[in-house]
Amino acid sequence: MNDQDPIAPHGGTLVNLLAEGAEAEALARRARNLPKVVVSPRELSDLELLTVGALSPLTGFQGERDYRSVLETMHLENGLAWSIPVTLSLDEEAVKRIGGAEAVALLAEEGGEPLAVVEVAEIFRRDREREALGVFGTTDLAHPGVKALAEAGDFCLAGPVRALRLPEHRDFLEYRLTPAQTRAAFRERGWRTVVGFQTRNPIHRAHEYIQKCALEIVDGLLVHPLMGETKEDDVPAHVRMACYEALFAGYYPKDRAMISIFPAAMRYAGPKEAIWHAICRKNYGCTHFIVGRDHAGVGSYYGTYDAQKIFERFEPEELGITPLMFEHAFWCNACEGMASVKTCPHGEESRISLSGTRVREMLRRGERPPIEFSRPEVADILIAAMKER
Ligand code: ADX
Ligand code: MG
Repeated sequence: MNDQDPIAPHGGTLVNLLAEGAEAEALARRARNLPKVVVSPRELSDLELLTVGALSPLTGFQGERDYRSVLETMHLENGLAWSIPVTLSLDEEAVKRIGGAEAVALLAEEGGEPLAVVEVAEIFRRDREREALGVFGTTDLAHPGVKALAEAGDFCLAGPVRALRLPEHRDFLEYRLTPAQTRAAFRERGWRTVVGFQTRNPIHRAHEYIQKCALEIVDGLLVHPLMGETKEDDVPAHVRMACYEALFAGYYPKDRAMISIFPAAMRYAGPKEAIWHAICRKNYGCTHFIVGRDHAGVGSYYGTYDAQKIFERFEPEELGITPLMFEHAFWCNACEGMASVKTCPHGEESRISLSGTRVREMLRRGERPPIEFSRPEVADILIAAMKER
């Protein structure tokens, strides 16, 4: 990070785990002879986040004491706020295969090039039930996060990471900025305050409204779509990106807003993930972070505003980044504009509120949802994508 940056990374130092020059060469040689571990797509995303410093101050996969401490107290053992453990899963067969090795090489796929080397500090058995309850607040296997946890190995390998390269991506390369790069981009634009917007969806009018309300009080907006693994029925990344680009082309101020990718996998952990998302965005250089209705939620596991309330459990300086909370937003015919229950005195009958299911039905039939719900440019991209499927 740069001393002039308006906000320090979490824990004070922006981490960069990518080895260079002689260290990289030696590491590559060493990796060849180490036991290999193929990481799941979700943990590959975590590896990328670790490597670029999005998870600063973490420099590797967490050990049991931090794992337990995070689950019990939402803090690392050293007292720093942290809400979701970052672990590397191993099944029993892999633990046996690794034996007493001092380090392992991580691969994205069988036979692939090593991406990173992890020094084996510790291998511990995960406490699956405690973890499910601690992160997701439920052990229900119908919850996509709990399901992914159930499918992960029984053990976790902890230890510091040095990376040889970033996981390979073939798409959206111009949008894949590291925290150091978003910080530099904000500096270049002269933004001292920047609001980050997490999303795993196309941007509809409600999203646009809360982003622009936030932008009224800060210098810049970072639309930061999560592009790691999401649920099967979430809108695919390339379709979402087309929607973001269409909106930016028509409705966003070029000198005040930018798009960049958040390469994380979605956990659907609601409140715990809202804290985690905020900490990550602070590392990317955001001073503010939007938390709206049911942030990172799924089904009806979390209350509509649980992800906002959880911020009360931290002193503001523990997180550093300022959450901007928004009530459920909608179009109101009587107000003739976007509004929320906080700003609109009219009743349900004036409001245009559509459920996700209802919107999907319309799109599938080739019908644009009302212009008050979704910009036509976005609706048309979604309709075309539905046809393709
Ligand atoms: S997610 O990570 O929270 O699952 P999503 O794309 O659904 O992503 O929402 C992005 C952000 O917009 C979240 O902060 C969410 O709380 C907020 N949000 C979504 N819809 C609304 C709405 N109608 N009113 C207010 N906030 C909303
Ligand atoms: Mg949502």
